[in-house]
Amino acid sequence: MDIKTEFEKLFDQKPEVTAVAPGRVNLVGEHVDFLDGFVLPFALKDVTTAAIAKNDLGVIRISSTNRDETIFEIPVAKIEPLTGEPWTRYPIGVIWSLGIKVGLDILIDSKVPIGAGLSSSAALECAVGTALNSLFNLELSLPQLALATQKAENVYVGMPCGIMDQSVSLMGVEGQALLLDCRDLSTQHIPFDIEPHDLDLLVIDTQVHHALVDGGYAERRASCEKAIEILGIPSLREISVEDFVAQKSKMDETTYIRAFHAVTEMRRVLDSVVALRAEDFTTFGRIITECHQSLRDNYTISCPELDVAVEIALANGSLGSRLIGGGYGGSAISLNKKSDTEKIKNEISKAFAAHGFKAPRFFTSLPSSGARLI
Ligand code: GLA
Repeated sequence: MDIKTEFEKLFDQKPEVTAVAPGRVNLVGEHVDFLDGFVLPFALKDVTTAAIAKNDLGVIRISSTNRDETIFEIPVAKIEPLTGEPWTRYPIGVIWSLGIKVGLDILIDSKVPIGAGLSSSAALECAVGTALNSLFNLELSLPQLALATQKAENVYVGMPCGIMDQSVSLMGVEGQALLLDCRDLSTQHIPFDIEPHDLDLLVIDTQVHHALVDGGYAERRASCEKAIEILGIPSLREISVEDFVAQKSKMDETTYIRAFHAVTEMRRVLDSVVALRAEDFTTFGRIITECHQSLRDNYTISCPELDVAVEIALANGSLGSRLIGGGYGGSAISLNKKSDTEKIKNEISKAFAAHGFKAPRFFTSLPSSGARLI
């Protein structure tokens, strides 16, 4: 399918601009992006494409190749947060957040698995944002575009996400993981060159679909913010693990344990960077497994499918394995020797069948480029 031809068939005009933006895998640094933390994601090669042209109808007409040929129409004057067909809120939220007030025809094609913890929503927002940035000569920098697309998701969609997914979808670089400082959006590219070490980064999609707009994410974020308030510090990044633990009695158990995840996770990211720079994948693997344990036991956002995937990967030679993204489903990753990949996949599939879980999907992935015009 050629999106430009498809666009012309649907809207009777050619697209003026077409952009792609990828989903992401996060190596480490989970649920700390909204706390001024560091995160270490990379961009997937799977992308969402947005083809766009202006129209003079005063209406946004939007369609997706993933959902037959239905065209949703929203008058520009009626654009309002938290309204409209749920999936269209992501692209329309970006139009709203960029303050664009003219009619547009938009066709979306997503190759990023939806609801799999791989940031299909950020890919959609960033493809539309990149296209509009060019179409209207907005000249927004990548960090500015990341903030604008995050605002779309926070306010228009109503999901209080952090800045990681949009940042890496826009700023990812081939062969490198992105060390993002979520306080000022500064970045460093960290080589993640696992091929010469005969390693695979296996992504295990549990096929348990998550819906982050629902409660758990926001509740945990609120607990971490409560800890900051109780401790009277500007950010959880300002406190060492030791000082945080010493002040345990000031916090209720839920606040403490959730914020404990965040404080230790920030340290894990920095330790991971040291390990990756030294090409010490054994240490890096141990750290990401610790991340899973913390997400499971402290932050409590795992689910049986994710825990089984991680457990079986580790039992079959994985150097490190963990759930990624928002949690409650979606995907896990395993860093393992290439020669162990087939065995890990087979054993996870067998275990899923034995537990009566839906069959998982697998793919291996390496860091790819961020959003671009095509
Ligand atoms: C989701 C959010 C991100 C981030 C992760 C957890 O993907 O969109 O901002 O908080 O969860 O690290």
